[in-house]
Amino acid sequence: MKLIGMVNKMRNASITGWGKYLPDNILTNKDLEEIVDTSDDWIRSRTGIKQRYIADDGETTSDLAYHAARKALKTADLKAEEIDMIIVATVTPDMPFPATSCILEDRLGADNAATFDLEAGCSGFVYGLSVASQFIESGMYDNILVVGAETLSKIMDWEDRNTCVLFGDGAGAAVVQAVDKGGLMSFDLGSDGSGGESLYMPGGGSLNPATEKTVEDKLHYIKMAGNQVFKFAVKRMSQASRDVVNKAGFGTEDVDLFIPHQANTRIINSAAKRLDLNNDEVYVNLPEYGNTSSASVPIAMAEAREKGLIKNGDKVVLVAFGAGLTWASAFLEWNEEGK
Ligand code: UT7
Repeated sequence: MKLIGMVNKMRNASITGWGKYLPDNILTNKDLEEIVDTSDDWIRSRTGIKQRYIADDGETTSDLAYHAARKALKTADLKAEEIDMIIVATVTPDMPFPATSCILEDRLGADNAATFDLEAGCSGFVYGLSVASQFIESGMYDNILVVGAETLSKIMDWEDRNTCVLFGDGAGAAVVQAVDKGGLMSFDLGSDGSGGESLYMPGGGSLNPATEKTVEDKLHYIKMAGNQVFKFAVKRMSQASRDVVNKAGFGTEDVDLFIPHQANTRIINSAAKRLDLNNDEVYVNLPEYGNTSSASVPIAMAEAREKGLIKNGDKVVLVAFGAGLTWASAFLEWNEEGK
């Protein structure tokens, strides 16, 4: 694991645009009671989730990404043709290839953008910000669109109550540009591949190419050992938050708002307790959206900004964990005034 941060910067990078998009359909815990052997009470008390949004048949990850991206471009006052690079973080691409970022580029009309997808599980958006930040700081690019978008409902085993109650669909996007001061100050990224099988989809790749048998064996769905991920999450969320703040030369007491990956309120509360945070310093929207994987942090960030909970100069931590297993955190001094 390496800490990367304020080294040899030519200029600072910051988030200057934000947007979120959720599909129309809401699936409540009560609805799930009709599908699997579960209860509203169990889901609320063990996870904090009340409902989640589910994409329509035929509604794709790039569709959700498109709507979130349009909003982010609008807030940044940026035209699609001005985008230099598009990074889409997702574990549910429209298809194995071409990349969902290419499909998004075409739909946006971002004809001058380099594009690629980034797969780091639920940490993908924060990983994507770290990549965008390097390109901006080095001076190579000026305008980068980073999107976290998922249609997890498409890889859900709707007979598995251990997983199907947890996840939801959605997308969040950010524009990253150069600023005079503040912005994205430090990152902490890591992974522990030994935990890969605690959260994975085994089918459809070179290990288990799609056959009738892989479909019959349900290998094209999410498999998860919830307990193992839970322990990893509590430890890594607090550690990665502390490390990234310290790297920027601050303490956790200096932070105005923590925006954690929205997976389970018990995970968020345990991490917050380890960091000595009050409730109003931690943004939580999990009850409304469920776990939207790489979309969860950008949706929460866009929503917090829309509600006026983040203003210029605020110190903000974004922190996530997920399949890989991976973790990622970013410390930023909010500055939305692009150069
Ligand atoms: O983005 C990363 C994605 N993954 C995560 O963040 C997952 C992290 N882990 C978790 O959030 C929690 O481990 C879960 C919410 C998944 C599970 O909570 P838990 O407190 O760890 O429960 P458990 O797995 O230990 O299961 C307790 C009981 C079991 O019954 P028995 O064996 O004690 O009779 C489960 O079968 O709860 C049962 N159970 C359910 N009951 C009703 C599991 N899922 C359900 C359900 N409804 N949906």
